[in-house]
Amino acid sequence: MKVTLDLSGFSNKLHFYLNGTEITIENPDPDTTLLQYVRSVGLTGTKLGCAEGGCGACTVLVSSYDKATQHIRHLNVNGCLTPLCSVDGKHVITIEGLGTYKNPHPIQERIALCFGSQCGFCTPGIAMSLYALLRNKPTPTEEEIEDSFDGNLCRCTGYRPILDAAKSFAVPKTSQIKNGTASNGASSNGCCGNGGPNGCCKGFDRPTIPQESSTCFPSVLFKKYDPSQELIFPPRLMKKVAEPLHFQGRKTQWFRPTTLDQVLQIKATYPTAKFVGGNTRIGIDTKFKHMEYNPLVYLHDIAELQGVSITSEGITIGANISVANLQKAMEEAIDTVNEHQVPVLRAFLASLKHFANHQIRNSASVAGSVATASPTSDLNPLFIASNSTFSILSSNQTAGSPARVVPATEFFVGYRKTAINPETDILTKIHIPLTQPSEYIRAFKQTKRRDDDVAIVNAAIRVRLSQDNKVDEIVFGYGSMAAFTCQAKRTSEYLKGKTWGDKDVLEKALETLDEDLPMQISTPGGMPEYRRTLSKSFFVRFWWDVIQRQSMDITHNHGDLRLLSEEVHRHTSFGTQSDKGATQNSETGIVSKSVNMVSAMKQSTGEAIYTDDMPRIHNELYGALVLSTRAHAKVVSVDTSVALAHPGVRGYFDHRDVPGTNTWGGGILLDEFIFVIDTVYCVGQTIGIIVADTQAIAQEAARMVKVEYHDLPSLLTIDEAIAADSYIPITKKLVKGDVDAAFATCAKIFEGETRVGGQEHFYLETQSAIVNYNGEDEVEIHASTQSPNEIQLSISKLLGLRAHKVTCKVKRLGGGFGGKESRTLPMIGALSVAAFRTKRPIRCMLDRNEDMVISGQRNPFMGKWKVGLDENNMLVALDIQMYLNSGWSADLSPAVMERAMIQIDGVYNFHNVRVSGYCCRTNIPSNTSFRGFGAPQGNIITEDFMTQIAEQINVPVDKFRVMNFYKPGEMTHYNQELLDWHLPKGYMQLKEKANYETRLAAVEEFNKLSKWRKRGMSFIPTKFGVTFPILHLNQAGALIHIYHDGSVLLSHGGVEMGQGLHTKMIQVCAEELQIPVESIHTVDVSTDRVANTTSTAASASSDLNGMAIKNACDELNERLAPYRAKGLSWTEIAHQAYFDRVNLSVNGFYKAPNIGYDWKTNSGQLFFYFTMGAAISEVEVDLLTGTHTVLRSDVSMDLGRSINPRVDIGQIEGAFMQGMGMTTTEEPLWFPDGRLFTQGPGAYKIPGFKCIPQEFNISFFEDVTHDSVKTIYKSKGVGEPPLFLGSSVYFAIRDALRYARKENGHDGTFSLPIPATAEKIRMAVGDTIAESSRLASKSGERPWVLQSC
Ligand SMILES: Cc1cc2nc3c(=O)[nH]c(=O)nc-3n(C[C@H](O)[C@H](O)[C@H](O)COP(=O)(O)OP(=O)(O)OC[C@H]3O[C@@H](n4cnc5c(N)ncnc54)[C@H](O)[C@@H]3O)c2cc1C
Ligand code: FES
Ligand code: FES
Repeated sequence: MKVTLDLSGFSNKLHFYLNGTEITIENPDPDTTLLQYVRSVGLTGTKLGCAEGGCGACTVLVSSYDKATQHIRHLNVNGCLTPLCSVDGKHVITIEGLGTYKNPHPIQERIALCFGSQCGFCTPGIAMSLYALLRNKPTPTEEEIEDSFDGNLCRCTGYRPILDAAKSFAVPKTSQIKNGTASNGASSNGCCGNGGPNGCCKGFDRPTIPQESSTCFPSVLFKKYDPSQELIFPPRLMKKVAEPLHFQGRKTQWFRPTTLDQVLQIKATYPTAKFVGGNTRIGIDTKFKHMEYNPLVYLHDIAELQGVSITSEGITIGANISVANLQKAMEEAIDTVNEHQVPVLRAFLASLKHFANHQIRNSASVAGSVATASPTSDLNPLFIASNSTFSILSSNQTAGSPARVVPATEFFVGYRKTAINPETDILTKIHIPLTQPSEYIRAFKQTKRRDDDVAIVNAAIRVRLSQDNKVDEIVFGYGSMAAFTCQAKRTSEYLKGKTWGDKDVLEKALETLDEDLPMQISTPGGMPEYRRTLSKSFFVRFWWDVIQRQSMDITHNHGDLRLLSEEVHRHTSFGTQSDKGATQNSETGIVSKSVNMVSAMKQSTGEAIYTDDMPRIHNELYGALVLSTRAHAKVVSVDTSVALAHPGVRGYFDHRDVPGTNTWGGGILLDEFIFVIDTVYCVGQTIGIIVADTQAIAQEAARMVKVEYHDLPSLLTIDEAIAADSYIPITKKLVKGDVDAAFATCAKIFEGETRVGGQEHFYLETQSAIVNYNGEDEVEIHASTQSPNEIQLSISKLLGLRAHKVTCKVKRLGGGFGGKESRTLPMIGALSVAAFRTKRPIRCMLDRNEDMVISGQRNPFMGKWKVGLDENNMLVALDIQMYLNSGWSADLSPAVMERAMIQIDGVYNFHNVRVSGYCCRTNIPSNTSFRGFGAPQGNIITEDFMTQIAEQINVPVDKFRVMNFYKPGEMTHYNQELLDWHLPKGYMQLKEKANYETRLAAVEEFNKLSKWRKRGMSFIPTKFGVTFPILHLNQAGALIHIYHDGSVLLSHGGVEMGQGLHTKMIQVCAEELQIPVESIHTVDVSTDRVANTTSTAASASSDLNGMAIKNACDELNERLAPYRAKGLSWTEIAHQAYFDRVNLSVNGFYKAPNIGYDWKTNSGQLFFYFTMGAAISEVEVDLLTGTHTVLRSDVSMDLGRSINPRVDIGQIEGAFMQGMGMTTTEEPLWFPDGRLFTQGPGAYKIPGFKCIPQEFNISFFEDVTHDSVKTIYKSKGVGEPPLFLGSSVYFAIRDALRYARKENGHDGTFSLPIPATAEKIRMAVGDTIAESSRLASKSGERPWVLQSC
């Protein structure tokens, strides 16, 4: 029967408050997200980082009033997934609602003052998460604070300073302060011990930055936090009665019914209507899968679908309560039910703690999770195992008739198919039975990263035992083991009536599980062997858990009581930082002072402007790239007719529209094109660009461009390229000594192969630019690039203009890490051609998935090594062939290879070295520069073979390392003398500081007592040569204007991307001119102010730009000397000099002296100096699952005399975390056809807040001299050198596995793939569970996804 919906009672006005201001919008577009809306009204502090709920950059607070409980709820949610239409009756608070840089909120102030903001792109989102916590609980515990950031990512800071800032709001842990003194004297919560009467200065009376005793970390008084001063909830909204709403947008209608009857009526009228809960699934489907739903029916405000009731039988919930509310309800229920009823609540709570993150849990509804029927759902296995039931109403049933009740065990019937009929049904209630006596239930989940990650495998298992421990009933709910949440029915059947605790029963059950949950090498989702292993490991853990809880005596049967070990646990983190050894005296006290980052406060308040935050320019259009979707193919045809007819589209441009030269190259080879001509060489090449009135229209139209291809054979991996002899035509060789003769003398020779995976830059701000062509052949580009000069030159060639017609300006970057060095040109090039042709400004900020698909990564490497030792185990010779995956073009890969070849000596004297480097050309996007530029890959290969060799000669690897360290004055394989060589000294200092030997013994002891958890330690050294390897790049310019009010405008060639460059450069300028830093300002980098700048890279920007600034200041000082001699103040000096017509503008210049290396002759000085350091890490690994936690890391470095110790410490911590991510959780994966699988934070896991070492200590080498260092104030480059030290975590994991493998009968050395993901760790344990899960591949079968190394 066709029902006609009466819309007369539906309003078309959306009414809410934004930062305290009332807003009414007539007929808003249902496609608009809250993030898009707030940014469109100028509140650009809230950022877009991923659009998939995985980074938290878009976090805002949504407050609402619950009339039933008379409570105001403050929820942090993702603006990128929250529909604007859903905020009716709510108060939305964005970062701008908290404070301004002149009057910041205490949260904003503390994050800024604690150096918790580097590039700042993540900062507003992080501040909002903390704000949400404090609005709900003004005095949280440290644990709650650490938990609160599970939905936020930061790629720069290493998280520690953010946590320090946040923990200044925590209730002081008095007992911990007294008892928790760490080994190096600092307290275990970051307390300086110099605080008030209660021993801590973090209390509200006298809050300060937690400090370690040092000369350069001045005590800073924070603003007091007064919760009563927060924005109030608008009283009008408390009285507001929700009314039904209906909006008609460009493509979609939106209904907000207020009763279940209305919902059923709408569904009867529109059978295709899509219900919306939290929009966390629909938002992703519409954004990334381009699904279109019409109409949308928002269910959140239906009372019948909310609420929780608890009886002695169980809990019944309204289906659309949020996941967070389910969590809250269960936490509260624990205190009200009987003891034996608690296990089911605990199982749900354990699962909910790791369900997504706060933002998602606050939005997502339980119904949404159930109805989506995702195979990875965490809740659905629990609903199955707990025997829950679902109530379903249908739009075609008679009014008042009862709901259909379906058991969860029968609900999930196929991939995203359930017992719900999508045309008629709505899920209304869920009933979860409580557990009975002798009934146990537990949930398991394994992820790539512990926090905020979907399951690789999850499970819930419930067993009910009889009095004699026989199985009465057992139910398994498994996620990610099939296309939908499944059960292990055969295993349940087998176990029925069997005795729990009987070893033979366990073994047979594990075999049956394999039959229940079949997998193949190519099974979708990948990791089939690991998933099989996990499915059994979970059951083993459950088996032991029940034995323990039932207090069974099973020693007679199982023997080894060490089996009774639990998962790894994590405590709240803490750390210490010391600047001892890195400071210096300066005339003004400005240099070596930890001056706050100049933009930190603005970043914290959201006022800092990034490229896409710039206001729209008159007539501006948006550009969307048309990207290739094949790895290698001839382009047969491109049909743009449908796209061009799409309303709002203003044009399509491709290679035919390039006025100048379409050819370019990211490095020395010009082997790329801005636009594809007739052949595509990888997925993600630019075929053309659509320009349109809005981003949405441009992106829709870009998808409408039909491209026909004729596929050609393609290459993905290094091995495939070697087999096909596919190389970039630049190979390098470096030889020192007579390598063959040296091998002939060796007592022992070892050979092997090491592979290192790639790494995605994952800067939080994706690539963005605005290109403005003014019609007079002048182009102004605002871009997020590390290379303004390269952009200027390349765009001028592309457009057929001279360079002086093109200006590139860079205000700041939301992170770069090398990924915005050469690979920003493809997008900016396309925008420039479109701007040139349309004569209109064009803007684009890439979506995260586009950015990841097109912009390349750190080059994956493979090294085939041969190492010779003498009879005393001293290194004699190294012969290594290195291969990297360059992707489809050369870009910077040949230079990356050179750096890796140079770094291959690590810190060891091999005496005779032959190293050759090959760049493999494949059909993936061009790989490129990434912090470390090949050095980390080279160093990891070295430390891997050093470890493998040490294991084979039976010498502790640390001893083997130390005995082979270079000695002062020795020559590297590129014939550079090691001057000021302090590595051996600093290494020993760190050994003492970190109490290495004692802890090593403790690790041995721990491992003897624990079977399924092992600890491991590593002690990794590094050296990093600082200089651009290409001579002409070692130059810099600066321009200083002194205005006659005494203010100084400082311009130089270095881009600020979070590394604190502008702050340090202002310090240099202030030191030289002897004026306060506050008198100096840097606006941006602009090619029309400082010409011919070198890319900001190679850790050399402070050295080069600092000297150029000094050069300018020297000149200014000379001109101003007569005025200084008069004893005038700075303002008077500037004023008088101006009136005396003294030129107060000076251009400074610098070129690094004495360098110039010749590869052909292996002579000349390559590096200006070396930065060096060492790290000790200790980890604990859960062998059953592959999860690890870093118990402690200690890093010590020689950074010369630091210009700003806190900035440098921030660089060390951030780089360490990136290196740790590179070698552990970060694994770029590809489908065999060349498409990137890891396209966002959902699939690609950078470290999160809870990945940082539980104890993280940073210090500097002490009592060392720097006579040979000729840099500005003898400071050293810091950006890249510490990154490799993050691999100490990888090597510690490897060490833990060594213990495990030995127990499992694998005595020899072994190779642990890099990155050592949970999968790789688990599969290396060598136990019978893992070994019995191995699969043979069928002929021609390829894994679902693979690495490209
Ligand atoms: C960043 C991120 C992390 C995540 N992590 C996890 C995780 O760790 N574990 C996990 O299990 N899940 C995770 N998820 C998935 C998440 O559980 C789902 O997105 C969420 O539960 C869907 O709920 P929603 O209310 O937002 O659904 P919506 O997106 O609003 O809707 C989803 C589906 O449910 C339907 N629906 C909603 N209500 C009803 C109803 N009453 N009756 C019938 N159909 C209905 C909708 O029509 C739609 O088809 C994650 C998601 C994101 C974005
Ligand atoms: S932009 Fe919303 S979570 Fe990343
Ligand atoms: S400061 Fe966090 S991403 Fe840059």
